Amino acid sequence: MRQHVNPLSRVHQRPLPLPPPAELFSEPARPIHLDIGSARGGFLLELAQQEPGRNYLGVEIRQPLVQAAEADRQALDLRNLHYLYCNANVNLEQWLAALPPGQLERVSIQFPDPWFKKKHHKRRVLQPALLLAIAGALAEQQELFIQSDVLEVIEPMVLLIEASGYFRRPPEDGRPWRLDNPLAVATERERLVLQQGLPVYRVLYERNRQPLGTWPELPLEQRPKATDNPPERPELCP
Ligand SMILES: C[S@@+](CC[C@H](N)C(=O)[O-])C[C@H]1O[C@@H](n2cnc3c(N)ncnc32)[C@H](O)[C@@H]1O
Repeated sequence: MRQHVNPLSRVHQRPLPLPPPAELFSEPARPIHLDIGSARGGFLLELAQQEPGRNYLGVEIRQPLVQAAEADRQALDLRNLHYLYCNANVNLEQWLAALPPGQLERVSIQFPDPWFKKKHHKRRVLQPALLLAIAGALAEQQELFIQSDVLEVIEPMVLLIEASGYFRRPPEDGRPWRLDNPLAVATERERLVLQQGLPVYRVLYERNRQPLGTWPELPLEQRPKATDNPPERPELCP
């Protein structure tokens, strides 16, 4: 299977209305955790069983991974979990905008594809429009969690999120990175990285009370440290 999919390629630009919660979950009014880039789905499969009180949606651009994850879910008959094929930069905004206010409890973006070359930064998943859509769907105190083992990837995400003005960090959290993972389950990629003794950089954000308004000047493409020659790392995706 291809390790990386170019989210800007034409085949992934199709408009695709995502089903509403009533078509995804048996108890559709429950709070939702949205995991963007859910890959093979092991993280949500475990979390949905450990913490069954909410609904979980994993969105992923690699169709075969979605099919395999859905097969696992169906084998366990989990009805508080769903995986969908989706280009988060094309298909999520409409779905997020249609959610009942307050239902989205948490969004996670974990170990996003790094796209190291500067000319490929626009393929990175956390783009201003997606962040704006997430900020619009999260009510005050609801969460956006990001983690990565690649500083060159997470630093621009932090800059973007903080420049938006829509998020704050819990005051008790470590700076610049949280010391631990606030989620009860590690992702496939996270386990691989930790097994190799490599660091993981994490930030938990809470939506603040700033109403959505104009978008400030964003620094995403202004990072001087972006590198085209990344250090050796384990295979990037499971
Ligand atoms: C490095 S993997 C990490 C997977 C998982 N979150 C983990 O931590 O193990 C990143 C995943 O994001 C997916 N992805 C990248 N761009 C995406 C996009 N625009 N929309 C949805 N998924 C995307 C990739 O296909 C890949 O499966």
